[in-house]
Amino acid sequence: MELSAFNYGANAVSYIKNEKKYGMICAWAMQADFDKILMLLGAQSVTGKNIKKGDIIGVSALSENQQDVVDALGSSHSDDTNKFANIRYTTKDSALLIDDASNCMVVEVLDVLHLPGIEEDNLIYGLVRSYTSSDSKKYTF
Ligand SMILES: Cc1cc2nc3c(=O)[nH]c(=O)nc-3n(C[C@H](O)[C@H](O)[C@H](O)COP(=O)(O)O)c2cc1C
Repeated sequence: MELSAFNYGANAVSYIKNEKKYGMICAWAMQADFDKILMLLGAQSVTGKNIKKGDIIGVSALSENQQDVVDALGSSHSDDTNKFANIRYTTKDSALLIDDASNCMVVEVLDVLHLPGIEEDNLIYGLVRSYTSSDSKKYTF
């Protein structure tokens, strides 16, 4: 059986770059200081590949009733389709924030790490520049 180490949330990582919208769902995410976060975006993710140090991205911790957002962003690739066609979101700088999420964070990418064993993946280390929270329960599994 695969290791399921912790409880997970569904987090939408989304932004606009060169007029193209990118978005994916990330469960492997954690807070790494009061105002910093880490997210493991695998080599398969186009969203992850296009994130560079200094970028401003949106990270939305989804609410338990946002399965539709998980379905829209959590499969297929952002360069093939417009994943945002049926999603309600708000743009803040280059960050795309999902409406009605539990937490909506505007994140500055401080570094993109390639650690031993996960060199091909992108471990995003980000500073939370600003955020808004709602009372809604987070999506967890
Ligand atoms: C519930 C859920 C959790 C996921 N968690 C992660 C994750 O932590 N890291 C990751 O790289 N992909 C994760 N994925 C898969 C990506 O969201 C998926 O590969 C997506 O299609 C990538 O889109 P992109 O190529 O447009 O970036 C998850 C998918 C789902 C449905």
